[in-house]
Order: sequence, then C-alpha cells, then structure tokens
Amino acid sequence: MLKNLTDTVETAIESKLGTSLPGIVVPSTRPEFGDYQVNGMMGAAKTLKQNPRVLATSVAEEISNHESIAQAEVAGPGFINLTVSDEFLAQSVNTRPNFTPWGEGVKIVIDYSSPNLAKQLHVGHLRSTVIGDAMVRSFEMAGYHVIRQNHVGDWGTGFGKLLAYIQEIDQTGSFQVDQLDEINVRATERFNSDSAFADRARQIVTQLQGNDVATQEQWRNFMKVSQDHMQEIYGALGVTLKPEHTRGESAYNDDLPNVISDLEDTGLLTISDGAKCVFLDQFKGKDGETLPMLVQKSDGGYLYHTTDLATLRYRQSSYQPDRILYFTDARQNLHFEMLFAVARAASFVNETTQLEHHAFGKILGKNGRPFSTRDGSNIPLVQLLSEGERRARAVVDEKSADLPDQQREIVGRLLSVNSIKYADLSKNRVNDYVFDWDSMLALDGNTAPYLLYAYARLNSIFARGGIDRGDLDSSVQVTEPQEHDLVMRLLRFQETLELVIKEAKPHFLCNYLYELTVHFMRFYESCPILKAEQQVRDSRLSLCAKVAETLENGFECLGITPLQRM
Ligand code: ARG
Repeated sequence: MLKNLTDTVETAIESKLGTSLPGIVVPSTRPEFGDYQVNGMMGAAKTLKQNPRVLATSVAEEISNHESIAQAEVAGPGFINLTVSDEFLAQSVNTRPNFTPWGEGVKIVIDYSSPNLAKQLHVGHLRSTVIGDAMVRSFEMAGYHVIRQNHVGDWGTGFGKLLAYIQEIDQTGSFQVDQLDEINVRATERFNSDSAFADRARQIVTQLQGNDVATQEQWRNFMKVSQDHMQEIYGALGVTLKPEHTRGESAYNDDLPNVISDLEDTGLLTISDGAKCVFLDQFKGKDGETLPMLVQKSDGGYLYHTTDLATLRYRQSSYQPDRILYFTDARQNLHFEMLFAVARAASFVNETTQLEHHAFGKILGKNGRPFSTRDGSNIPLVQLLSEGERRARAVVDEKSADLPDQQREIVGRLLSVNSIKYADLSKNRVNDYVFDWDSMLALDGNTAPYLLYAYARLNSIFARGGIDRGDLDSSVQVTEPQEHDLVMRLLRFQETLELVIKEAKPHFLCNYLYELTVHFMRFYESCPILKAEQQVRDSRLSLCAKVAETLENGFECLGITPLQRM
C-alpha cells in the first residue's frame, strides 16, 4: 500500500513540478485526515522556493486523477490528505497475495536466548528468548534462510566449584535441576569460606581443561541436566530452539589460543600489566584514556570477549551469512561494540557481513525496580509460568465458562504463555517495561487476550455458518466505511513485516495486529455477515477469511499460538 501510494505521489510531483522530490507518505494519524498523508510538499516548496499550499494544490489535483485515489485534499500549511478509493482497495485485496516473501537466498545468523547453564532459566532470560524467537520466525516468514544459534554459557572456572559441591552431596555426581540454584548459592559460600574446598574447585577446573575423563564426564552430566531443563522451558514457551541449535562457549574453547595468536599476527595485541589487550582509538573512558578490550588475563585465562571473537569467526566461515544478529540486554552494548570493531580490524568477518547488536531494556516490577522475588533474587521461569497459568485460568473460567473443564485448562495454559510473550513483544524493546499480570491479561487494549478472543470470534463465524474457509472463493467488495478501513489494514501487512525485519522490532507487528483487530471488531459489530444477502455474505466471508489468515501469519511471526475456540 505504502509503496504504491508513494509511487503515485512521486509521479505526480515529477509531472507537475518537473523534478523528482520525495513525497513522504505516511499513514494518517487521525481518521478525519483520510487514509494517508503526504508530508513532502513543505520540503519541496523550500527546495523550489515556492508557496507550499500552491504547490500542494497543484500536486493534489494531479494525484486525484489517479485510479487509486478517491480524494486528495490540501490541509494546513501544505499537507495532502489522501483517501484511497474503495475500488482500488477491493482490487488490491482480491488480486494480491496476503504478502510476498522477499528474503530468499539471504542468510541470517541469529544469536538469542543463550542462557548461562549454571542456573535455572529465570526472568532475566525471557526477553532475549522471546524477542529473538519472534525475529527468527519473522525472518523465516519473509523467506530468509535463518541459522539459529544458542550461545549457552557452559564453560568457565565457575563450573569448578559447582562440580566440587555436587561431588560432595552425591558421589555419582547426579542432581536434580530444581536443586541447581541452591547448589549455586551453597557452592559459592563454600568456595569463599573453605580453602580446601576452593582448592578442590580449582583442581577440577584444571582437570577439565586437561581433558581428565572422569571430570569431563561429570561436566557433561551437569550440562545434560541443565540443557534438558532449558529445552523443557522452550517447549512450554513455544520457542523454536532445538538441541541442534545449541553451540555453547565450550565449543570454541580449543580455538581460543588461535584467536590470540592471530590477533598478535595482525599487530593488534598489546600487553598491559601482563594481560593481553586490544586498544582501538574509538573506545575512550570517561577520563579520555583509550579503553582496552581484554582477551587474555595475566594468569592465561580467556574472557567472554575472546570466546565471542572465536564464535564470530566460526559463524563467518561456516555459514557465510549476510547478517549476524545478537539479542542481549543493553548492559552488553560496549561488549558488542568492541567485539565488532576488533573482529573487523582483525578481518575475522567479511566486510559485507552486517553485524548487529539489538539490545533491550530491563523488566521492572510494579515498584519500578528490577522484577525479582521478595528477597531480590531472580524469578525462575518455571515459577513464572505456573503463576501465569493460575491467573490466566481465572480469566478463562470467567470468560469461557461454557467450555469443558479440561479444555479450560488447555486454554488457560496457552493464554498465560501467549500473554507473557505478547506483553514483552508489544513494547518497543529498547525501553524497560513493567511486568504487570493485570494489564497483560486484560481483555481490552493491545493484549494477547484481546487479539485471541477476537480471533476465536472470527472462527466462530465460520463454525456457525458451517463454512470451510478453504472453499471460499468470492471476491471482496468494499462499500461500507468499516470495510474500507479493514481492507486498508489488511493491505499493510507486507510493509509492517518489512519494518520488523529492518529494525528487528516485533512491536511494530503487535501494533499492526492490534489495529487490524480493532477494525475487524468494528466491521463485525456494524456489518451483518451470515445474515446478509447472498452476494454481500460471500464477500464478507471472504474478507473474514483474509483477516483470519493475516492474523495467523502475524501470530506465527510472533510465536503466539492461537486457539480456534476459547
Ligand atoms: N550467556 C550470555 C549471558 O547470559 C549471553 C550470550 C549472548 N551471546 C553472545 N554471543 N555473547 O549474558
């Protein structure tokens, strides 16, 4: 829609003013301004040193001759308000597919979720997991070739004390995943207060690095318990990460000495206080000193940066991607800026490979502080999900009292997961947001329950009419204003998905789906469907089918599971 109108407007500008200038067409902010507005005439007037209203009037006249335009009206200092014609809307919606994928042949690596496996998954892992998965799905919907990478934290000296502690509580080294957080706390306590324990922990690290078979076996066992837990949470959340997408820090361990020697060969390495660093001029501290990126400590240990350099190089050479995207919280901004700069300076990535860190804000509690348990620790996702289920069940019991018990349980579980995910996805990710059960489970507003109940209502039209959506082949007619507005929204799916992909921001799609649903409900409330006379009925049913299909595509992009009946 947008591209079409922009072309129309810019052609009119060219033919009237004899020069090509940007039309700057955007969706209208208010219904009384029509469907779209042209903002480019003030700029054009400036460039041509002419009166903006006079220019706008002549361009508007030209635009209104176009078959797609019902009305082009000059407003204010030189805006042009556009109303698209009903015929054009009908023709577009009847002749074009819902959207056309455009990403074929483009390869995208997406690094997301990537939890540290020493702990249970908790609220701190939610955003990367949910936003990353929505982006993966959106890219795939748009036809891109996506390579998922779960860069789990499964290596490092911290595992020494955990294994030492587990050996103490169980000689075979086994434990249950729900003991994990407690093990963590206890092991740290012991490490700090008991020097014999600390020595044992360090010895285990040495054994691990020296490929001691028994110790490695224990480490592998630890990872299995932790990764099974991770996959279980992904399953509950409907996240598409599978075990084969996991390639954790440990996978790059053997390559770390090569990273150091290659940095050395390119002349990027400096020794500072015995540690190996890379200094790049663009990174300055508060006092104006150049900041180092530390890659090897003076005791020989490697760092998060070092592993990420090896990882980046691996991804470049194994996948030859066009873009690599990382989703982490904003505290890692500097890490990624340095990582990308050093990787480029060392030619670890091709010049044409686009490197993108997409950061997000914190989840806050209603008190405005980071969302956590009463004692300030992280809320495990298992716990969050079961609380959500309990709360969503209350909504379902009230709103869907006629469903059988068993069905309400399923609906409650899905509504909970969908609501938790949607609340996150519907906010611009760069900001912090407040985690609030009541607002995410509300039946009105830009929420999962609102969208899902509307979608279920849409399906009930087909069910009541005994209609199979696949059988509908009538074309859509646009006569009522509610039909006009609804079809207009349908035609914006493509441009919305393009924006999501370009900016890696799923909230654009949430806003879109919300708007589409609002207009569907207005249509539903004022235009009879099943009771209309045959021809109108057929047209409206076809329109409903297209709305359902678009909602389904949108839900698929976001990782929201719709229910036919609620
Ligand atoms: N494991 C890290 C953490 O929990 C996130 C890893 C992100 N990906 C990466 N390649 N650094 O903070």
